[in-house]
Amino acid sequence: MFRANQLTYPKLLIYSYYQRYITILPSAVCNKSYSKFGAKHDFLANDAIELSINMDQNLLKQWQAISDNEPDFMVNCSQLCALLMQQIDEISWCGFYWNREKMLVVGAYQGPLACTRIAYEDGVCGAAFTQRQVQIIDDVSLFEGHIACDSGSASEIAIPIVQHGQVIGVFDIDSYILKRFDHQFSVYLEKLIQYFVENTIIPKFV
Ligand code: SME
Repeated sequence: MFRANQLTYPKLLIYSYYQRYITILPSAVCNKSYSKFGAKHDFLANDAIELSINMDQNLLKQWQAISDNEPDFMVNCSQLCALLMQQIDEISWCGFYWNREKMLVVGAYQGPLACTRIAYEDGVCGAAFTQRQVQIIDDVSLFEGHIACDSGSASEIAIPIVQHGQVIGVFDIDSYILKRFDHQFSVYLEKLIQYFVENTIIPKFV
């Protein structure tokens, strides 16, 4: 069933299938064409699986289409969080923590209310920041020092945001299911965040 009220961006066409939303992009940014979805009954289960797998790979292309010629920091932070929340299955929170005032301070995000400030030595975000390494946590209850902004969180990924060789923040994603994130996903996410950094004017206060 086509849901016109779900159209949040003109380039995105959202189609509901077995209660999951799958975003179909213009052929320029997606290896599927609209015509394949002309009739609901043509939309086979295999297509849903294939699209779900392709979704991570297409995130960068989607972001490039959305942020084309748009370097504004607040716009891009907000839009990127909204895109990821809409496009990535089974996540509960995604957003930025920026290195400000000798702490990690929350920035734009989507999801339930989050911790405002995190010390460098604390939590999954602190580990990503101080170790300059992606943290993929299959089960947050086993991570010593995990900060439970939302008691429902089960797994998490945090990636350092690097600009000119300096870690300027962390991008964090939470999920209510265990083992939601894997290495392959982290590679896509890192590419996406790097593209964001290179194409956004990040203000001095960060
Ligand atoms: N769980 C994070 C804190 C941030 S929230 O998940 C939004 C951590 O342990 O650093």
